[in-house]
Amino acid sequence: MNPKLINIIPMDLKEQQIVDQTRNFVEKQLVDAEGGHDWWHIYRVWKTAVRIGKEEKADLFVINLAALLHDIADAKFHNGNEEIGPQRATEFLTSLSVNAMTVEHITQIIRYVSFKNRHEQPPFVSKELQIIQDADRLDAIGAIGVARAFNYGGFKGRSLYDPSIPPNPEQSKAEYKATQAPTINHFYEKLLLLKDMMNTPTGKRMAEERHRFMESFLQQFYGEWEGKR
Ligand code: ADP
Ligand code: NI
Repeated sequence: MNPKLINIIPMDLKEQQIVDQTRNFVEKQLVDAEGGHDWWHIYRVWKTAVRIGKEEKADLFVINLAALLHDIADAKFHNGNEEIGPQRATEFLTSLSVNAMTVEHITQIIRYVSFKNRHEQPPFVSKELQIIQDADRLDAIGAIGVARAFNYGGFKGRSLYDPSIPPNPEQSKAEYKATQAPTINHFYEKLLLLKDMMNTPTGKRMAEERHRFMESFLQQFYGEWEGKR
């Protein structure tokens, strides 16, 4: 078959059933996950990834499964073990008789999707990985991004804003993890940088709109801070 055609064939019934089973599995796995990576984060990344996947004519079976499984076992909650997620995904998908090549592709996506590897060149690239990465990053910006940032900051006991503590966008991986800076700084250290890290044209377009929203949020915030708005 012409390899170009494979990508635009919609999922068949069996694939749709596997996606439904995966959705149920992930939703159960994440019942007591913390706020930033709960089922609803997965849900949003999933919907966004499928939308981008359709526009970019990607393999929608891979997109559905990888989006659903991309955070099933975050390394930061497993003593930094980055292999638990890929391992669980492999076991689960193999139990549903998904073919080995597809399983391998999905586990590679789970392995390389994380933002924290941004300074390293990933040894694996595919259009589907790029799309899941875009969808995951999009969930950190825009209105949802603002909500998640303040939710995370509150959880960590951080202040909203402190004009005497400037943001530090050049920080190392260790500094980034250890920071006690106010939540507003996170916009300059990560959230406003994401727009330029999008991989796909559709991801870029969506990121631009969400980026503008954050900029206007910040303008309003500083205005209100000084009693000017
Ligand atoms: P990911 O799993 O996408 O790599 P993180 O676990 O670092 O992201 O963050 C989860 C959510 O919490 C994201 O929306 C992120 O923007 C937010 N977050 C992470 N670090 C901070 C921080 N220092 N201040 C505010 N929000 C943060
Ligand atoms: Ni995620």
